[in-house]
Amino acid sequence: MPLDSAREDLIRRLPKVELHLHIEGTLEPEMMFSLARKHGVTLPYSSVDAVRAAYNFSDLQSFLDLYYAGCDVLCERSDFYALAMAYFTRAHADNVVHAELFFDPQTHTQRNVPMEAIIGGLRDGMNDAHKRFGMSSELILCFLRHLSEESAFETLEMALPFRSEFVGVGLDSGERDNPPSKFERVFAAARGHGLHVVAHAGEEGPPAYIREALDLLHAERIDHGVRCEEDPALVEYLVAKRIALTMCPLSNLKLRVVKDLREHNLARLLRRDVAVTINSDDPAYFGGYIGENFRQTAAALDLTRGEIMRLAENAVNAAFLPEDTKVAMLGAVHAAAAAPHG
Ligand code: HPA
Ligand code: ZN
Repeated sequence: MPLDSAREDLIRRLPKVELHLHIEGTLEPEMMFSLARKHGVTLPYSSVDAVRAAYNFSDLQSFLDLYYAGCDVLCERSDFYALAMAYFTRAHADNVVHAELFFDPQTHTQRNVPMEAIIGGLRDGMNDAHKRFGMSSELILCFLRHLSEESAFETLEMALPFRSEFVGVGLDSGERDNPPSKFERVFAAARGHGLHVVAHAGEEGPPAYIREALDLLHAERIDHGVRCEEDPALVEYLVAKRIALTMCPLSNLKLRVVKDLREHNLARLLRRDVAVTINSDDPAYFGGYIGENFRQTAAALDLTRGEIMRLAENAVNAAFLPEDTKVAMLGAVHAAAAAPHG
């Protein structure tokens, strides 16, 4: 069903909170080329169009190969600043009022980019986004699960001098054969430093990985979580504990987690009262920022106005924000829904 103007209008006006966004996944081909020229990095593509044409993925790993290759152009503090600012400008156009950004330090520290350049550049962008757009944001440091526990511990050590600059840790990269249990100790150490915990689970991996993320890592939110439905008791647990799923429908479509958006279980889970949210994951690679994820999902799954509102509320409630800020944001969500169309 095409999206009618009332729902289109509601989606445009809703203040949005984005909780699942890899900042490296916002690197648009134009910026990839300009940074490659700046640093003399050779890209395996002849043009911006050739890059876009390569974005035809068969699974998560086929995407990750290109995503990590693209990261090679991010070298200096000013590159991370430019990357963050481009995202915030785009997110502001979608009425994002708060974003919690994942970053993958190992991708950069492996190339001898200092942690200070990564976190400092992102922080410069976050400060500017706050000044220019009134947008708040936080950083979540992700460990790459295809690398070792030792590498994750080293990364945490390198990041601790910047402890006040990030609010949590997460787990991303290739899920298959890299269970959360591999990182139980490093997540315990991170929690010891007062960091929040999230983890990608149940994107390609089995529901048992979602349980491990919850039970062993003490994840407060699950990133993706699509496969939770294969374990009905787990779905009940997610509802009872109000564990949010940060779902990314266009990502799931592009990485062939689902064949068609109309088959996505987001609406079914939402209707079972799971705290589902909509996010963009790696929007430069998957064909749409958060607004486009809302629009295409609402159309494909025939979401009602009330359900679209619920998605926005769920994201506010699941954010790592103080309660009074959440109350104010929920007020703004309700005001947007109550406003006359136009
Ligand atoms: N899954 C796992 N790792 C990732 C993703 C994702 O969707 N995006 C960037 N790193
Ligand atoms: Zn992700």
